[in-house]
Amino acid sequence: MSVKFKNVILALLILVLLFLLILISSKVYKFYVASKLDREVSNDSDVIKIGFSLGTLKEERWVKDRDIFMAKAKELGAEVFVQNANNDDEDQLKQVKYLLDKKIDILVIVPNDLKKASAAVEMAKKAGVKVISYDRLVLNSNVDLYISFDNVKVGKLMAEYLVERYPKGNYLIINGATNDNNTKMIKEGYDSVLLPKVKSGDINIIGEEWSPNWMSEYAFQSTEKYIQKNYKIDAIIAGDDGLANGIIESLSEHRLAGEVAVVAQDADLAACQRIIEGTQLMTVYKPLDKLAGDAAKLAVKLAKGEKLNVNNTIYDGKYNVPYYKLEPIAVDKTNIDDTVIKDGFHSRDDVYRYTN
Ligand code: BGC
Repeated sequence: MSVKFKNVILALLILVLLFLLILISSKVYKFYVASKLDREVSNDSDVIKIGFSLGTLKEERWVKDRDIFMAKAKELGAEVFVQNANNDDEDQLKQVKYLLDKKIDILVIVPNDLKKASAAVEMAKKAGVKVISYDRLVLNSNVDLYISFDNVKVGKLMAEYLVERYPKGNYLIINGATNDNNTKMIKEGYDSVLLPKVKSGDINIIGEEWSPNWMSEYAFQSTEKYIQKNYKIDAIIAGDDGLANGIIESLSEHRLAGEVAVVAQDADLAACQRIIEGTQLMTVYKPLDKLAGDAAKLAVKLAKGEKLNVNNTIYDGKYNVPYYKLEPIAVDKTNIDDTVIKDGFHSRDDVYRYTN
Protein backbone atom coordinates (compact mmCIF):
# COMPACT_ATOMS: atom_id res chain seq x y z
CA MET A 1 0.00 0.00 0.00
CA SER A 2 1.42 3.34 -0.97
CA VAL A 3 1.92 6.04 1.67
CA LYS A 4 -0.42 8.33 -0.26
CA PHE A 5 -3.24 5.75 -0.18
CA LYS A 6 -2.73 5.19 3.55
CA ASN A 7 -3.04 8.92 4.17
CA VAL A 8 -6.31 9.10 2.21
CA ILE A 9 -7.78 6.24 4.30
CA LEU A 10 -6.63 7.97 7.50
CA ALA A 11 -8.19 11.27 6.46
CA LEU A 12 -11.45 9.50 5.62
CA LEU A 13 -11.43 7.77 9.00
CA ILE A 14 -10.87 11.10 10.76
CA LEU A 15 -13.76 12.63 8.80
CA VAL A 16 -16.09 9.74 9.75
CA LEU A 17 -15.02 10.11 13.39
CA LEU A 18 -15.65 13.86 13.32
CA PHE A 19 -19.06 13.31 11.78
CA LEU A 20 -19.95 10.77 14.48
CA LEU A 21 -18.76 13.15 17.18
CA ILE A 22 -20.94 16.01 15.86
CA LEU A 23 -23.95 13.66 15.58
CA ILE A 24 -23.58 12.38 19.14
CA SER A 25 -23.05 15.82 20.67
CA SER A 26 -26.11 17.26 18.85
CA LYS A 27 -28.23 14.36 20.20
CA VAL A 28 -26.88 14.96 23.70
CA TYR A 29 -27.65 18.68 23.34
CA LYS A 30 -31.22 18.02 22.16
CA PHE A 31 -31.77 15.66 25.07
CA TYR A 32 -30.47 18.30 27.48
CA VAL A 33 -32.77 20.99 26.06
CA ALA A 34 -35.78 18.68 26.16
CA SER A 35 -35.21 17.65 29.75
CA LYS A 36 -34.66 21.31 30.73
CA LEU A 37 -38.00 22.20 29.11
CA ASP A 38 -39.64 19.31 30.91
CA ARG A 39 -38.29 20.62 34.19
CA GLU A 40 -39.65 24.10 33.39
CA VAL A 41 -43.06 22.72 32.45
CA SER A 42 -43.28 20.66 35.59
CA ASN A 43 -42.29 23.74 37.62
CA ASP A 44 -45.05 25.59 35.75
CA SER A 45 -47.61 23.28 37.21
CA ASP A 46 -46.68 24.71 40.62
CA VAL A 47 -47.56 28.22 39.44
CA ILE A 48 -51.06 29.28 40.48
CA LYS A 49 -53.23 29.95 37.47
CA ILE A 50 -55.97 32.56 37.87
CA GLY A 51 -58.79 32.91 35.35
CA PHE A 52 -60.11 36.50 35.24
CA SER A 53 -63.42 36.71 33.39
CA LEU A 54 -64.59 40.28 32.83
CA GLY A 55 -68.14 41.07 31.70
CA THR A 56 -66.88 44.16 29.91
CA LEU A 57 -63.87 46.41 29.43
CA LYS A 58 -65.94 49.28 28.03
CA GLU A 59 -65.66 51.64 30.99
CA GLU A 60 -62.23 53.07 31.73
CA ARG A 61 -62.16 51.57 35.23
CA TRP A 62 -62.12 47.92 34.08
CA VAL A 63 -58.87 48.41 32.22
CA LYS A 64 -57.35 49.68 35.46
CA ASP A 65 -58.86 46.74 37.38
CA ARG A 66 -57.35 44.30 34.90
CA ASP A 67 -53.91 45.92 34.83
CA ILE A 68 -53.59 46.30 38.61
CA PHE A 69 -54.87 42.77 39.21
CA MET A 70 -52.41 41.28 36.72
CA ALA A 71 -49.46 43.21 38.09
CA LYS A 72 -50.23 42.19 41.68
CA ALA A 73 -50.83 38.55 40.74
CA LYS A 74 -47.53 38.47 38.84
CA GLU A 75 -45.75 39.95 41.85
CA LEU A 76 -47.20 37.08 43.89
CA GLY A 77 -45.91 34.56 41.37
CA ALA A 78 -49.29 33.70 39.85
CA GLU A 79 -50.25 33.59 36.19
CA VAL A 80 -53.44 35.31 34.98
CA PHE A 81 -55.57 34.41 31.97
CA VAL A 82 -57.93 37.27 31.09
CA GLN A 83 -61.14 37.06 29.08
CA ASN A 84 -63.54 39.88 28.17
CA ALA A 85 -67.14 38.96 27.33
CA ASN A 86 -68.07 42.36 25.82
CA ASN A 87 -71.46 42.35 27.56
CA ASP A 88 -72.40 38.98 26.07
CA ASP A 89 -73.68 36.34 28.53
CA GLU A 90 -73.16 33.38 26.19
CA ASP A 91 -69.61 34.48 25.51
CA GLN A 92 -68.88 34.84 29.19
CA LEU A 93 -69.99 31.25 29.76
CA LYS A 94 -67.88 29.98 26.85
CA GLN A 95 -64.88 31.93 28.10
CA VAL A 96 -65.19 30.50 31.59
CA LYS A 97 -65.30 27.03 30.05
CA TYR A 98 -62.13 27.88 28.10
CA LEU A 99 -60.45 29.05 31.32
CA LEU A 100 -61.44 25.85 33.12
CA ASP A 101 -60.04 23.82 30.21
CA LYS A 102 -56.78 25.71 30.79
CA LYS A 103 -56.82 24.16 34.27
CA ILE A 104 -57.04 27.39 36.24
CA ASP A 105 -56.81 27.04 40.02
CA ILE A 106 -59.24 29.86 40.76
CA LEU A 107 -61.86 31.86 38.87
CA VAL A 108 -62.33 35.58 39.41
CA ILE A 109 -65.49 36.75 37.66
CA VAL A 110 -67.12 40.12 36.99
CA PRO A 111 -70.55 38.89 35.90
CA ASN A 112 -72.25 40.53 32.96
CA ASP A 113 -75.57 39.25 34.25
CA LEU A 114 -76.24 38.87 37.96
CA LYS A 115 -78.22 35.63 37.52
CA LYS A 116 -77.06 34.06 34.26
CA ALA A 117 -73.46 34.01 35.46
CA SER A 118 -74.46 31.45 38.09
CA ALA A 119 -74.08 28.79 35.34
CA ALA A 120 -70.41 29.76 35.08
CA VAL A 121 -69.96 29.55 38.85
CA GLU A 122 -71.61 26.13 38.89
CA MET A 123 -69.30 24.91 36.13
CA ALA A 124 -66.24 26.08 38.07
CA LYS A 125 -67.44 24.50 41.30
CA LYS A 126 -68.04 21.20 39.51
CA ALA A 127 -64.43 21.34 38.34
CA GLY A 128 -63.34 21.92 41.95
CA VAL A 129 -62.33 25.52 41.22
CA LYS A 130 -63.09 28.23 43.79
CA VAL A 131 -64.79 31.43 42.68
CA ILE A 132 -64.43 35.11 43.57
CA SER A 133 -67.22 37.45 42.48
CA TYR A 134 -65.36 40.65 41.63
CA ASP A 135 -67.03 44.05 42.08
CA ARG A 136 -70.44 42.68 40.97
CA LEU A 137 -72.20 39.91 42.86
CA VAL A 138 -73.35 36.72 41.14
CA LEU A 139 -76.69 35.83 42.70
CA ASN A 140 -77.86 32.46 44.11
CA SER A 141 -74.44 30.91 43.60
CA ASN A 142 -72.68 30.67 46.95
CA VAL A 143 -69.42 32.08 45.60
CA ASP A 144 -66.40 31.66 47.87
CA LEU A 145 -65.93 35.42 48.15
CA TYR A 146 -67.52 38.67 47.04
CA ILE A 147 -65.04 41.53 46.88
CA SER A 148 -66.29 45.02 46.14
CA PHE A 149 -66.90 48.47 47.51
CA ASP A 150 -69.88 49.24 49.69
CA ASN A 151 -72.19 49.82 46.75
CA VAL A 152 -75.14 50.77 48.93
CA LYS A 153 -72.93 53.52 50.32
CA VAL A 154 -72.09 54.63 46.76
CA GLY A 155 -75.81 55.42 46.23
CA LYS A 156 -76.07 57.00 49.67
CA LEU A 157 -73.11 59.31 49.05
CA MET A 158 -74.62 60.44 45.74
CA ALA A 159 -77.99 61.31 47.29
CA GLU A 160 -76.56 62.88 50.46
CA TYR A 161 -74.32 65.14 48.42
CA LEU A 162 -77.26 66.43 46.39
CA VAL A 163 -79.76 66.71 49.22
CA GLU A 164 -77.34 68.86 51.23
CA ARG A 165 -77.06 71.31 48.36
CA TYR A 166 -80.50 70.95 46.80
CA PRO A 167 -82.86 70.09 49.67
CA LYS A 168 -85.85 70.88 47.47
CA GLY A 169 -86.34 70.34 43.77
CA ASN A 170 -86.76 68.05 40.81
CA TYR A 171 -84.46 65.05 40.67
CA LEU A 172 -83.84 62.77 37.71
CA ILE A 173 -82.18 59.37 38.17
CA ILE A 174 -80.45 57.51 35.36
CA ASN A 175 -79.30 54.14 36.62
CA GLY A 176 -77.02 51.53 35.13
CA ALA A 177 -78.08 48.13 33.81
CA THR A 178 -80.83 46.17 35.57
CA ASN A 179 -78.83 42.95 35.15
CA ASP A 180 -76.06 44.32 37.38
CA ASN A 181 -76.57 43.80 41.11
CA ASN A 182 -74.65 47.00 41.83
CA THR A 183 -77.48 48.97 40.24
CA LYS A 184 -79.83 47.54 42.86
CA MET A 185 -77.39 48.25 45.69
CA ILE A 186 -76.91 51.84 44.54
CA LYS A 187 -80.68 52.31 44.37
CA GLU A 188 -81.05 50.96 47.89
CA GLY A 189 -78.52 53.59 48.98
CA TYR A 190 -80.05 56.64 47.29
CA ASP A 191 -83.60 55.55 48.15
CA SER A 192 -82.72 55.50 51.85
CA VAL A 193 -81.85 59.19 51.59
CA LEU A 194 -84.34 60.41 48.98
CA LEU A 195 -87.58 58.61 49.85
CA PRO A 196 -88.19 60.44 53.16
CA LYS A 197 -87.71 63.72 51.25
CA VAL A 198 -90.11 62.57 48.56
CA LYS A 199 -92.63 61.72 51.27
CA SER A 200 -92.28 65.15 52.87
CA GLY A 201 -92.84 66.72 49.45
CA ASP A 202 -89.43 68.42 49.31
CA ILE A 203 -88.08 66.36 46.48
CA ASN A 204 -89.88 65.32 43.35
CA ILE A 205 -88.40 62.45 41.36
CA ILE A 206 -89.37 63.28 37.78
CA GLY A 207 -88.02 60.04 36.36
CA GLU A 208 -86.03 56.91 37.10
CA GLU A 209 -84.42 55.19 34.11
CA TRP A 210 -82.29 52.09 33.63
CA SER A 211 -79.67 52.11 30.93
CA PRO A 212 -79.07 48.73 29.18
CA ASN A 213 -75.39 47.73 29.32
CA TRP A 214 -74.63 51.03 31.07
CA MET A 215 -74.89 52.75 27.68
CA SER A 216 -73.95 56.40 27.71
CA GLU A 217 -76.07 56.96 24.56
CA TYR A 218 -79.13 55.81 26.47
CA ALA A 219 -78.40 58.34 29.22
CA PHE A 220 -78.07 61.04 26.55
CA GLN A 221 -81.44 60.18 25.06
CA SER A 222 -83.17 59.92 28.44
CA THR A 223 -81.94 63.38 29.42
CA GLU A 224 -83.13 64.74 26.06
CA LYS A 225 -86.54 63.23 26.75
CA TYR A 226 -86.93 65.02 30.08
CA ILE A 227 -85.60 68.30 28.73
CA GLN A 228 -88.06 68.13 25.81
CA LYS A 229 -90.86 67.64 28.35
CA ASN A 230 -89.88 71.07 29.70
CA TYR A 231 -89.10 69.87 33.18
CA LYS A 232 -86.97 72.14 35.29
CA ILE A 233 -84.34 69.64 36.36
CA ASP A 234 -82.36 70.58 39.48
CA ALA A 235 -80.28 67.48 40.04
CA ILE A 236 -79.37 64.23 38.31
CA ILE A 237 -78.01 61.02 39.81
CA ALA A 238 -76.09 59.08 37.16
CA GLY A 239 -75.26 55.40 37.71
CA ASP A 240 -71.66 56.03 36.69
CA ASP A 241 -69.39 58.55 34.99
CA GLY A 242 -70.01 56.98 31.57
CA LEU A 243 -73.71 57.75 31.96
CA ALA A 244 -72.87 61.22 33.33
CA ASN A 245 -70.95 61.76 30.10
CA GLY A 246 -74.11 61.22 28.02
CA ILE A 247 -76.22 63.29 30.42
CA ILE A 248 -73.84 66.27 30.39
CA GLU A 249 -73.54 66.11 26.60
CA SER A 250 -77.29 66.47 26.36
CA LEU A 251 -77.30 69.26 28.97
CA SER A 252 -74.64 71.19 27.06
CA GLU A 253 -76.62 70.98 23.85
CA HIS A 254 -79.33 72.89 25.73
CA ARG A 255 -76.87 75.24 27.44
CA LEU A 256 -77.67 73.63 30.76
CA ALA A 257 -74.29 72.12 31.59
CA GLY A 258 -73.21 73.46 34.96
CA GLU A 259 -76.78 74.60 35.69
CA VAL A 260 -78.00 71.13 36.63
CA ALA A 261 -76.18 69.31 39.44
CA VAL A 262 -74.86 65.94 38.27
CA VAL A 263 -73.27 63.28 40.48
CA ALA A 264 -71.96 59.85 39.49
CA GLN A 265 -69.27 57.29 40.39
CA ASP A 266 -65.89 55.88 39.20
CA ALA A 267 -63.69 58.99 39.05
CA ASP A 268 -63.07 58.45 35.32
CA LEU A 269 -60.56 60.96 33.99
CA ALA A 270 -63.21 62.80 31.92
CA ALA A 271 -65.43 63.06 35.00
CA CYS A 272 -62.60 64.49 37.10
CA GLN A 273 -61.95 67.05 34.34
CA ARG A 274 -65.66 67.94 34.29
CA ILE A 275 -65.57 68.45 38.06
CA ILE A 276 -62.76 70.96 37.66
CA GLU A 277 -64.60 72.63 34.75
CA GLY A 278 -67.80 72.75 36.79
CA THR A 279 -70.12 70.66 34.60
CA GLN A 280 -70.21 67.71 37.04
CA LEU A 281 -70.44 68.26 40.78
CA MET A 282 -69.20 65.04 42.28
CA THR A 283 -68.05 61.51 41.54
CA VAL A 284 -67.73 58.62 43.97
CA TYR A 285 -64.11 57.52 43.88
CA LYS A 286 -63.39 53.84 44.42
CA PRO A 287 -59.65 53.23 44.90
CA LEU A 288 -59.10 50.36 42.46
CA ASP A 289 -55.54 49.78 43.61
CA LYS A 290 -56.96 48.43 46.82
CA LEU A 291 -59.77 46.44 45.19
CA ALA A 292 -57.72 44.78 42.48
CA GLY A 293 -54.60 44.41 44.63
CA ASP A 294 -56.45 42.78 47.50
CA ALA A 295 -58.46 40.61 45.11
CA ALA A 296 -55.23 39.22 43.63
CA LYS A 297 -53.88 38.48 47.12
CA LEU A 298 -57.11 36.78 48.19
CA ALA A 299 -57.30 34.80 44.95
CA VAL A 300 -53.82 33.38 45.55
CA LYS A 301 -54.72 32.55 49.16
CA LEU A 302 -57.93 30.79 48.12
CA ALA A 303 -56.11 28.86 45.42
CA LYS A 304 -53.61 27.67 48.02
CA GLY A 305 -56.51 26.51 50.18
CA GLU A 306 -55.76 29.06 52.89
CA LYS A 307 -58.45 30.58 55.11
CA LEU A 308 -59.47 34.16 54.34
CA ASN A 309 -60.78 35.56 57.63
CA VAL A 310 -63.51 37.65 56.01
CA ASN A 311 -66.27 37.97 58.59
CA ASN A 312 -68.70 40.26 56.84
CA THR A 313 -71.34 38.60 54.62
CA ILE A 314 -73.88 39.50 51.94
CA TYR A 315 -77.04 37.60 51.01
CA ASP A 316 -76.94 36.45 47.38
CA GLY A 317 -80.63 35.50 47.22
CA LYS A 318 -79.97 31.98 48.54
CA TYR A 319 -76.78 32.02 50.60
CA ASN A 320 -74.82 34.34 52.85
CA VAL A 321 -71.43 34.70 51.21
CA PRO A 322 -68.26 36.32 52.59
CA TYR A 323 -68.13 39.99 51.55
CA TYR A 324 -64.80 41.84 51.53
CA LYS A 325 -66.13 45.38 51.58
CA LEU A 326 -64.20 48.54 50.76
CA GLU A 327 -65.07 52.18 51.38
CA PRO A 328 -66.00 54.53 48.53
CA ILE A 329 -65.20 58.27 48.80
CA ALA A 330 -67.23 61.24 47.53
CA VAL A 331 -64.93 63.49 45.50
CA ASP A 332 -65.57 67.04 44.34
CA LYS A 333 -63.47 70.12 43.58
CA THR A 334 -62.54 70.55 47.23
CA ASN A 335 -60.89 67.17 47.85
CA ILE A 336 -59.88 65.90 44.41
CA ASP A 337 -56.21 66.84 45.03
CA ASP A 338 -56.12 64.94 48.33
CA THR A 339 -57.74 61.78 46.97
CA VAL A 340 -57.68 60.95 43.27
CA ILE A 341 -54.51 62.93 42.53
CA LYS A 342 -52.67 62.14 45.77
CA ASP A 343 -53.26 58.41 45.18
CA GLY A 344 -51.93 58.70 41.63
CA PHE A 345 -55.27 57.47 40.28
CA HIS A 346 -54.90 60.32 37.75
CA SER A 347 -52.11 62.82 37.37
CA ARG A 348 -52.66 66.46 38.32
CA ASP A 349 -51.73 67.50 34.76
CA ASP A 350 -54.42 65.27 33.29
CA VAL A 351 -57.16 66.33 35.71
CA TYR A 352 -56.46 70.06 35.26
CA ARG A 353 -55.61 69.75 31.54
CA TYR A 354 -58.40 72.02 30.29
CA THR A 355 -58.40 74.56 33.09
CA ASN A 356 -54.79 75.46 33.80
C1 BGC B 1 -69.47 49.14 38.50
C2 BGC B 1 -69.20 50.52 38.01
C3 BGC B 1 -69.13 50.54 36.50
C4 BGC B 1 -70.38 49.89 35.91
C5 BGC B 1 -70.34 49.79 34.40
C6 BGC B 1 -70.72 48.59 37.84
O1 BGC B 1 -70.99 47.31 38.26
O2 BGC B 1 -69.58 49.12 39.90
O3 BGC B 1 -68.00 50.99 38.58
O4 BGC B 1 -69.02 51.83 36.00
O5 BGC B 1 -70.53 48.59 36.44
O6 BGC B 1 -69.37 48.95 33.95
